[in-house]
Amino acid sequence: MKNFKPMAWMLPQPVLIIGTYNADGTPNAMNAAWAGQWDMHEIMISMGSHATTENLDRCPDFTVAFATADTMVAADYVGIESARKQPDKIMHTGWVSRKAEHVDAPVYDCFPMTLECRIKEKLYVSETGYYMVAEIVNIMCDESFLADDGKPDVEKMNLITFDPIHNGYLAIGDRIGNAFHDGNALK
Ligand SMILES: Cc1cc2nc3c(=O)[nH]c(=O)nc-3n(C[C@H](O)[C@H](O)[C@H](O)COP(=O)(O)O)c2cc1C
Repeated sequence: MKNFKPMAWMLPQPVLIIGTYNADGTPNAMNAAWAGQWDMHEIMISMGSHATTENLDRCPDFTVAFATADTMVAADYVGIESARKQPDKIMHTGWVSRKAEHVDAPVYDCFPMTLECRIKEKLYVSETGYYMVAEIVNIMCDESFLADDGKPDVEKMNLITFDPIHNGYLAIGDRIGNAFHDGNALK
């Protein structure tokens, strides 16, 4: 085994697109990987100091879409460009947005699945950002990505994961097993 000093190498990491409205009402989006499920109806995201952070200080509502192979280039773009420098950021992505039904934030049409969220609590607030715990207000899934049982089918979505070790985006592959079940073979 080779040892490494502590790094942000938690694996796998998501590629989340956080949608908010800028002060002038234009839609914005940023890429976030340091995030996860917090509780049954809540998520957590580690927020640095960004235009998105300012937007969230004005309004606690946002959307979270899961990036796909098809949206990868634009997903990376919204992670390396700031609305502070480029007000037309979303125009460069080609994404079309509409206002979410349950929160005051944009939904981008090109993602299979999007969460509508509202900040519940900000933790360790400082000039460099905070950790936000947010309620999942609603979950939207494009009907073409539903499984036969009517629930979202992750296998159909071509989602991607962020590799923080070599700064890559990796395709999420096929289903290989059944959770809470296959381990029974070893009981
Ligand atoms: C792969 C990737 C992951 C990122 N993860 C985070 C994150 O978890 N938290 C964060 O605050 N910024 C993260 N960023 C940086 C923001 O997406 C970036 O600073 C963005 O330009 C902010 O846009 P805005 O200023 O328009 O809000 C990430 C960027 C990339 C490319």
